[in-house]
Amino acid sequence: MPTIHEKVSLQPYNSLALPAVAEYFCAVRTTVELFAALEFARSKNLSVTPLGGGSNIVLAGDIAGLVLSVELKGLSHKVMGQAVEVTFSAGENWHDQVLHCLKQGWYGLENLSLIPGNMGAAAIQNIGAYGVELADLFVSLTAIDKQSGAMVKFDKAACDFGYRDSLFKNIGRDRYIIVDITLALSTEPKVNIQYPALQTAIDKYADSVAAITPELVSAMVCEIRSAKLPDPNIIPNAGSFFKNPIVPQVQASALSQQYPHMPSYPQVNGDFKVPAGWLIEQCGLKGAVRGPVGVHQQQALVLVNSGGGSGAQLLALADEVRTAVSQRFEIDLEIEPRVYGD
Ligand code: EPU
Repeated sequence: MPTIHEKVSLQPYNSLALPAVAEYFCAVRTTVELFAALEFARSKNLSVTPLGGGSNIVLAGDIAGLVLSVELKGLSHKVMGQAVEVTFSAGENWHDQVLHCLKQGWYGLENLSLIPGNMGAAAIQNIGAYGVELADLFVSLTAIDKQSGAMVKFDKAACDFGYRDSLFKNIGRDRYIIVDITLALSTEPKVNIQYPALQTAIDKYADSVAAITPELVSAMVCEIRSAKLPDPNIIPNAGSFFKNPIVPQVQASALSQQYPHMPSYPQVNGDFKVPAGWLIEQCGLKGAVRGPVGVHQQQALVLVNSGGGSGAQLLALADEVRTAVSQRFEIDLEIEPRVYGD
């Protein structure tokens, strides 16, 4: 039986460093421990909240029931010609595994370098960056269904992935605990450098390198991210705090006429994705400071907690940002991380 603690501070377990207390807390390192912890929760009729790396959550208050820190480790792989299927335990750190795969010569994850968090949570919000998203590489995952206690396998279609979205944020919300995820990588070093900022960064090296390798792509992604996005270990944050809104074509073209420099990205259905960071910057809120919390100076999409602020202070700032964007652009911003304890 894993040790179950009472009244545990969750401040070290969330990258925004927000203060909150778990009624019960347990770290599980094996599936046997995980099942034992679930049995404990069942016996006491407690709700169960699984935690991954804590890099995409906002703790608005204390959490009743059992908080489970999912620390399952390990990976296995299968090689089939140039294809490599790798199964990662949910508690493995995402970026450590990106680097591990690069070292093995298993390519495909390089554009997703330096994303904070763990492998399991990556599937919940379908992490994406620099032209690649998890769904592009996804094969399947295994999860425990909290309702039945059974292990369930989900293939890619069953996960219903969308932009920063999946079944686990919708009808599967609060029902499953992800145990492992399987991704399809390749031993063939194909690179994807279509994303404008990545292309610009690579161009600097185009003359001095023999080939644009996945290792170079990974290094460039790390360079761009480090320049723009605050390191959560230094300035607590949860990455993008809002999703980039998707607006109908007619609204996008009206906005482009009014703001010719507004970046926008066409979607397959004719809608346009508009960068929330740009909208927030136009509202004059980039770098805004509200006591202990603020809008990051280099990337307006990121809210930071630099002075020991609370979830309520952070959410008040998020409301201010949403109101400003709505009043100026008639666009509703959606909060990207999951809010708990409100
Ligand atoms: N922009 C501004 N002002 C800002 C921020 C951005 O004008 O303060 C403009 C940029 O100049 C650029 C455009 O907005 O023209 C897009 O900016 P960027 O490339 O920085 O990407 P993003 O759309 O702001 C998204 C993801 C990031 C991901 C990057 C790169 C979401 C919600 N965010 O940000 O993901 O790293 O693209 O692919 O989709 C995360 O999810 O935590 C995250 C960091």
